[in-house]
Amino acid sequence: MSLAGRVVLVTGASSGIGHATALAFAQRGATLVGVARRRERLEALAEACRGHGGEALALAADLGEPGAAERVVAETVARFGRLDVLVNNAAISKHKHLYRTRVEEAEQVLRVNFLACVWATFAAVPVMLRGGGGTIVNVSSIAAQVVPPRESLYAASKAALDAFTHGLWSDLEGSGIHAGLVTVGPIDTEIWDTLEEPSPYRGRRHPPEVVARAILEMVEKRRYELTVPRASPSLVAARWIRRLFPGLLRASLRRMDPVPPALVSAARERAQKGLRLGEEVDRDPS
Ligand SMILES: NC(=O)c1ccc[n+]([C@@H]2O[C@H](COP(=O)([O-])OP(=O)(O)OC[C@H]3O[C@@H](n4cnc5c(N)ncnc54)[C@H](OP(=O)(O)O)[C@@H]3O)[C@@H](O)[C@H]2O)c1
Repeated sequence: MSLAGRVVLVTGASSGIGHATALAFAQRGATLVGVARRRERLEALAEACRGHGGEALALAADLGEPGAAERVVAETVARFGRLDVLVNNAAISKHKHLYRTRVEEAEQVLRVNFLACVWATFAAVPVMLRGGGGTIVNVSSIAAQVVPPRESLYAASKAALDAFTHGLWSDLEGSGIHAGLVTVGPIDTEIWDTLEEPSPYRGRRHPPEVVARAILEMVEKRRYELTVPRASPSLVAARWIRRLFPGLLRASLRRMDPVPPALVSAARERAQKGLRLGEEVDRDPS
């Protein structure tokens, strides 16, 4: 698939992987629609995209709100008449121990990281069917397969996205709509600054452009699954250990970030007071 003149919608385009991906599409002559909450950043991105000769539109939206994904797809079609590529990339982190997390936060993670992708897909499929086809790229995480401590909700949102994408492979058969899943390892973006609790990860973080290149390849060559970075020994090892020695993986994850006894006793105290998870956590000593 040639990218010149294609209408591409990238969610989470105001920073990191989405920003790099939007620029990469624009450099290849695509018409770019960037979506995120921070309008000024999107306007700057649109300006940079136009600098590559194509058209660009900035659409500020909170994709966690029901109706927002449908609205941005509708605005894209109203402006450019079609949608060829949807990149579901926007997401929030949730690196926080379960005892400290409110159930409302769980819902928010699932809305932004998973349901927004579903909503955008439901809005895009009829448009792509009318246009004769298209591509939907879902940006997932290695965390869906090897779940880091304190990331059960983030990982669950990505695992749901993985399963949804696998289902699209069957259900979109014969439609001309291709779906692809990019599984991302550690990438140097702002998402690391948003972690609510410290991460024990000290390894290398790769530049977001490597993911952007994989996304373009997925669209151009109709790839189903790509992992980025491709030949990372730690990612490959983690996946194999999970498959062959799950007990060993559980033990090493626990060792990597052990649960402090004070955290458990504080959670138990709050539970004895009848509090819900995540309530009155600022008095937590750990
Ligand atoms: N970086 C990594 O190590 C890594 C690893 C695995 C997977 N990933 C995945 O890669 C994707 C991109 O993340 P990134 O690393 O590039 O992080 P990032 O720099 O923090 O980018 C996240 C993007 O999502 C947007 N966003 C967040 N909440 C939103 C909402 N409610 N509505 C609309 N847009 C929203 C943010 O824009 P606004 O704040 O302006 O809304 C931002 O543009 C995510 O799906 C992430 O899970 C990243």
